[in-house]
Parts: sequence; C-alpha cells; structure tokens
Amino acid sequence: MGKLWQGLSSGNVNKTADDFNSSVSFDKRLYKQDITGSIAHAKMLAHCGIISEDDAAVLTDGLISILNDIVSGALEIDETAEDIHTFIEETLTARVGIVGKKLHTARSRNDQVALDLRLYLKEETKTVIDKIKALVTAVTFKAEEYKDAVCPGYTHLQRAQPITFGHHLMAYAFMLLRDIERFKDCAKRINVSPIGCCALAGTTYNTDREFEAKELGLSGITQNSIDGVSDRDFVAEFISCAALLQTHLSRFAEELVLWSSWEFKFVELSDAFTTGSSIMPQKKNSDMAELVRGKTGRVIGDLTGILTVLKGLPLAYNKDMQEDKELVFDAADTVKKCLDVFAPMVAEMKANRQNMKNAAAKGFINATDLADYLTKKGEPFRSSYKICGEIVGYCIKNEKTLETLTLDEYKKFSSLFDNDVYKDIDIMNCVNKRISAGGTAISSVEKQIEYVRNEL
Ligand code: ARG
Repeated sequence: MGKLWQGLSSGNVNKTADDFNSSVSFDKRLYKQDITGSIAHAKMLAHCGIISEDDAAVLTDGLISILNDIVSGALEIDETAEDIHTFIEETLTARVGIVGKKLHTARSRNDQVALDLRLYLKEETKTVIDKIKALVTAVTFKAEEYKDAVCPGYTHLQRAQPITFGHHLMAYAFMLLRDIERFKDCAKRINVSPIGCCALAGTTYNTDREFEAKELGLSGITQNSIDGVSDRDFVAEFISCAALLQTHLSRFAEELVLWSSWEFKFVELSDAFTTGSSIMPQKKNSDMAELVRGKTGRVIGDLTGILTVLKGLPLAYNKDMQEDKELVFDAADTVKKCLDVFAPMVAEMKANRQNMKNAAAKGFINATDLADYLTKKGEPFRSSYKICGEIVGYCIKNEKTLETLTLDEYKKFSSLFDNDVYKDIDIMNCVNKRISAGGTAISSVEKQIEYVRNEL
C-alpha cells in the first residue's frame, strides 16, 4: 500500500523500517471510529462550504461501504498499510475516485488519530463501567447471603475483631463503586474533540470544529490546537483508572486464593473457576483468581509504559505517541477479561460458615469487647485495655479462652466483672453491637448493601 506523505519524501522506505513504522496490525481495531470520524469530517466540510454537498455524499457513501465490507469480512484490512487511517483513505479513493482525495482537507492524521482514540475509549469506558456494575451486583448478592456469617476480621493478617463475611465483601463493593466514579470522571475528559487542530497549528480553512464535535456526540472541543494533538492525558488517565481497578481485583483475588487454601477453608470456588493438578489429585487450584492477580502486573506495566512514553516528549505530535495504543488496548482488554471472569466466580463461590466461625472463636478476637465491657462499667479505657491484656496472658498460660474463664477468675483481675460479661463477649453479640455507620452489625451491613444498590 502507498504512503499518504509522498511529498518531499520519495516514500521509498527500507522494508524493515517500513514494518517497524507500521501500526496497522494493532490500530486496525480503530476502523469504526476512523470511519465515523471521517463521515463527520466530510459533513463539516460541506456544512462550511469547503467541499460540495454532492462530494460529501460520495465520501459518506464510500466510507459506509468500507465499514460494511470490513464488518462483513468482504474487505480485509491490508497489513502492509502504514496505519488504519492510510488504509481507509486509500481504499476510499480506490472506490470513489478523485473525490476521495478531498477528505483530508483541514485535518491531519495527528488530530485524526487523537479523535479515533478518544471515540474508542469513550465506548470502552462505558463497557468497563457496565462490567464493574455486574461485579458489584454479584458481590452485593453474596454479601447479603452472608451478612450474618461470622468470620475473623484481620489486621496484619492477625485475627483482630469478629466481623461478618458479608461486611468484608462489602468493602470490595465500595472500592469498585469508586472505580466506576473514576471511570465516569475520566470519560468527561475523553469526551472532547481534537479534530480540526490539524497538524498542530489549526487551519486556514473556515472550519467549524464545534459542529463536527456535535456530529460525533462529543461534549466540546480542545481549546488549544497544540495541546489537542499532543495530549494523551486521557490515555494515561484511562489506564490509571484501569490499574487501580485491577489493583482492587488483585487484592480480592489474593483473598480468594488465601481463603480457598486448606489453612483457611473459608470459601470454596466453583469447579467452573478452578483447575486440578495434573499430578496431585487432591488439588483444586484457584487459577482464575491467581491470573487476575497476575494480570495486574500487566496493567500497572501499561500505566508505567504510557507515562514513560510521554514524559520526555516535546510538543506537539511525535511518533512515540503511536506506542499509546498497544498499552491502552492491553489495559482495556485485560480489565474487561478479568471482570468477565470475576463476576460469575464470585456469584458461584460458597463460603463455609462453620470454618469461619471456628476461626473467629480462636485468637481472643473478642478481647476488645472485654475491654469495652470494663470501660462501660466505669474503668477508663486504657486501664481496661491493660487488665484485659493480663487476662489474655493468663488464658494463654492456663490454656483457657475468654469464654471458659470462670467468674471467680475474672474477679481476680477486676471486681467490676459480673455474670453479664459472657453475653458481652459472645461473638455474635460482638458483631451485632457494632451498629455504627459502616460497622459490621447485620443492620449496618444491610444499610451498606442498600446504599450500593441505590448507587448502581
Ligand atoms: N499511526 C500514527 C499514530 O498512531 C498516526 C499518526 C501519524 N501522524 C504522523 N504525523 N505521522 O500515532
């Protein structure tokens, strides 16, 4: 395929260099956006009297025929083309003749590629948000199912205080809700049209950039033409949102792996989302969760990649910027795949109430409640804390638990102890006393579930 730029340059590029320069193998996925952008451009050119309405109609028909043929498979994208913009423009001219050569009036590939990528990411953002919503829905259903299932809550991976499994799961629902907000916010800045910035300086033609932006369903135009063609903030921002989302998925995945281990046995992932071992028959491996965790490295890599590509670039367009596409495509593809596998994996997982409860019954997880008990009886909290620390030490030494300690033994540590202490340190009671907003009590978790459902 030819070059769009055989002006001063002969276009006789070394074959290896030509392959190196070509982006069509990956930017071909922008064909729809490129055609949509070109149709709007033809319309604007006619609207402004730069080309005739008849020419615009010929261009539009030609572009639509190309779109239809790519979709149906009748037209194969030529991998020897320099990029998707070249391929479509050359195909158009081959189909409609000389009129095809008018399309590129008052634009450059620099603003064209920026537009295509914005149109692409606008769609991707919507898709990703929908997929996050599906996961939040699955998490919320699970949380409701297990809103009364007691389990240990951890800090430093040490048993800390009793919580419910539903409460723990809802923590992820809120992280994901913020991810949705971040993508929505990012979409505001994606939704701006750079077309008409041309190579970098604008154009001498009497164009109407606002008209073209409106045709494309974008909310406005970039206000500085140099910025319009140089800006890839929106790419970095999209990948950044993706990396944070992926980081949340990774933490969740890590917990699923941990909880599925024999050491925990808090959850059982469905056979549909685990694999066996080819040699150890007892194994059920949480490959999908591990892969989600592993793929997080790619997305963080994509973020590092785009920031590094951009950091030293002088204004305006530089070919380095062609490297943005594989990074952002990879980030978008990866989060979508991870979300697709995560939502049903959560929906189908089962938690083991008994194992979680057993784990919560060990490790003096109700020691804070014991201290609170004394504090409510009149002891200052710091002193209660110290007394309870001594009690725990006594229990460990004498192989007892807070539940099996006799009242006489309790009284040796403080005369404030009474028979009602046993009720106060009952694990389920410990959970359900935490009715503070956002807390672990069933009633609080129900409110959290309701909040998330309203937000969705
Ligand atoms: N394939 C190029 C890219 O992705 C398109 C823009 C080319 N512009 C140029 N001045 N060579 O960035």
